[in-house]
Amino acid sequence: MTVYCLYFSPCGSSRACAQAAAGGVSRDFVEVNLTNRTEEFPAAGKGDILVVAAPVYSGRIPSPLAQKLQRARLDGAVSLALVVYGNRAYEDALIELTDLLAAAGAPSIAAGAFIARHVFVPEVAKDRPNAADLAQLKALGERTRQKLEAGDVAAVTVPGNRPYRAAPPAAAVPVVDASSCQKCGLCAFNCPTGAINPKNPHETDIALCIDCMRCVNCCPEGARSLPEKMLALVTQKLSPLAAVTRENEFFC
Ligand SMILES: Cc1cc2nc3c(=O)[nH]c(=O)nc-3n(C[C@H](O)[C@H](O)[C@H](O)COP(=O)(O)O)c2cc1C
Repeated sequence: MTVYCLYFSPCGSSRACAQAAAGGVSRDFVEVNLTNRTEEFPAAGKGDILVVAAPVYSGRIPSPLAQKLQRARLDGAVSLALVVYGNRAYEDALIELTDLLAAAGAPSIAAGAFIARHVFVPEVAKDRPNAADLAQLKALGERTRQKLEAGDVAAVTVPGNRPYRAAPPAAAVPVVDASSCQKCGLCAFNCPTGAINPKNPHETDIALCIDCMRCVNCCPEGARSLPEKMLALVTQKLSPLAAVTRENEFFC
């Protein structure tokens, strides 16, 4: 049996959640960072457990992860599906993730929706996932392993609607402060969709950009940011959520 810890995590919270849950399944697990363009789902099979974590983007899972799942061959494995969201709502993301895992051959015998810092407005859920969240993730991982050991591989039912809500295109791409940018290319290298021109990182293709904020977070010069107008709009919409405390949800 191989335990896989798989995540699409441009800004790190989904990664932390996946690692905590995988640690509950087993002390030894194989980690794959699906945020990287070159990484795909491993060829998993009977007896394997996949812990798969994805951030919620507009109530869906990120399209690059959905595309990788559509190419995945996981026949006979089972999964623990996790969506990680910024304290607003996860809408159809969990049902989409569990549907895609089932179609790839790894039905979800457990699932969860967990709160994390909102990458657009970091004051929202700013300290999450916290130690209590990570403990819940570990416990969910333990329960998933116990279920499999007991031969209970029934897929869980999770909230959400089919057809899934429409995924809106990127509203705008991050802007570059030309006086700070050193054209080191780290943003282009790290971009999960290849939206940034490696020869000229000031050029970002809006048709490819998913506004994941990985380039903004990884720039050593702090040269990239959301356009001011977009930041003002999302801050106005989301900042009231800073006063809201939501609980994680589990399906097991
Ligand atoms: C493009 C985009 C859309 C988002 N949409 C939602 C959403 O619909 N609901 C929500 O609660 N959080 C939303 N968030 C917040 C993220 O789900 C949250 O910050 C998550 O922790 C990011 O995961 P990561 O740190 O693994 O990259 C969105 C973030 C981005 C970048």
